[in-house]
Amino acid sequence: MDPRRLVGLYVHIPFCSVKCFYCDFTAFSGQSKSVSRYVAGLGQEARLKAGRVPDTLYIGGGTPSELSAQQIGELYDLIGRFYPRSKFLESTFEVNPESTTGEKLSILRSCGVTRLSIGAQTLDDALLKSIGRRHTAKDLMDIYRQARSFDGWSVSIDLMYGLPDQTMPSFLKTLDDVLALQPEHLSLYGLQVEDRTLFAKREVEPDEELCRAMYEDALDRLNAAGYRHYEISNFAKPGFESIHNQIYWHDGEYVGLGCGAASYLDGIRSTNLDRLPAYLSAVESGRLPVEQEEWLSGRDKLGETALLGLRMLDGFEPGPDIEREFSVEIGRLERKSLLKREGRRLRLTREGVFLANQAFLEFVAPFQDVAEARVEQKPEPAGAIN
Ligand SMILES: C[S@@+](CC[C@H](N)C(=O)[O-])C[C@H]1O[C@@H](n2cnc3c(N)ncnc32)[C@H](O)[C@@H]1O
Ligand code: SF4
Repeated sequence: MDPRRLVGLYVHIPFCSVKCFYCDFTAFSGQSKSVSRYVAGLGQEARLKAGRVPDTLYIGGGTPSELSAQQIGELYDLIGRFYPRSKFLESTFEVNPESTTGEKLSILRSCGVTRLSIGAQTLDDALLKSIGRRHTAKDLMDIYRQARSFDGWSVSIDLMYGLPDQTMPSFLKTLDDVLALQPEHLSLYGLQVEDRTLFAKREVEPDEELCRAMYEDALDRLNAAGYRHYEISNFAKPGFESIHNQIYWHDGEYVGLGCGAASYLDGIRSTNLDRLPAYLSAVESGRLPVEQEEWLSGRDKLGETALLGLRMLDGFEPGPDIEREFSVEIGRLERKSLLKREGRRLRLTREGVFLANQAFLEFVAPFQDVAEARVEQKPEPAGAIN
């Protein structure tokens, strides 16, 4: 399986029970009356964009588990009409503990989901409340156990570190409790304080030293527990790496459906309208809901390929064009011991992994900001580029 040759299909569900204080994803609370209309709209968009045969399916958010069991079934039926389900090598669905039920899990299994991704963030109830989450640690445990009662899928858990008032003991307890559950995959995100979030308004500033200590301890514990650190924020038991997300990091192609979702096909990156009314009125009148199209070429494209490739712990093989275009930058990072060569591959050193954002700046045009160029630090790919 070569992720460079695969095509991913990302479907964005922009509904959430509440907006978490740190989140700037395309996600709306209080819009549950629009969900059915939105699911139908996704079907319209799928019809407009049909043609490719995607290898992976990723339904992310927002909060896909905000859909009712019936709406989940309808969504898979609609997708299956235009993108045959039997072709998916991997099919992921993101759930939040507070809106997941046994009935929804059962429908998801029967719809062919092979990978369930649960947003836990932390198992510290006081901390969950202070970041605006609706669920408790017990909700997560209950849902995890229910998910485990079904065969045929693997489970991934999202955790965050660097949260305001998150102490090292609280973080390590969460990590140990999650490791005791033995999920096949774990995503570990350092808090990014994004504009237009409550945390930005409150001028939250993560303690960099503590963040690094948390991340370093996590790497050691995850390694000892048999997880392979395969991307800056992602860890998997061997064979359970996310195929869909590897398509992004290998600079492969993807189709994105839904409000704010992005697609990358034939060298063109397009981004969908991210306001619900505008998105719905476009798809309902048979128009592609695309807001912006960008042809990536030259140095910008090469820089993006390098940045994505370096997110993977095994690095990537830079072609002659990247070597030529970025020889000064690569040399500088090698001298700072942030990058190293292994045969024909270029990869981050252990220190480079901790200072990845600094290293990535070398590959980004000066007018761009790393956060903008970042793909899947948080998995909003096609959206997800969560
Ligand atoms: C797009 S969210 C969707 C998943 C789901 N709605 C949830 O919140 O659990 C995917 C993951 O991104 C991470 N995330 C979101 N915003 C973040 C931020 N500002 N900084 C770091 N990680 C973030 C969280 O771990 C979250 O589980
Ligand atoms: S973190 Fe997840 S649940 Fe919270 S607002 Fe963002 S997408 Fe919604």
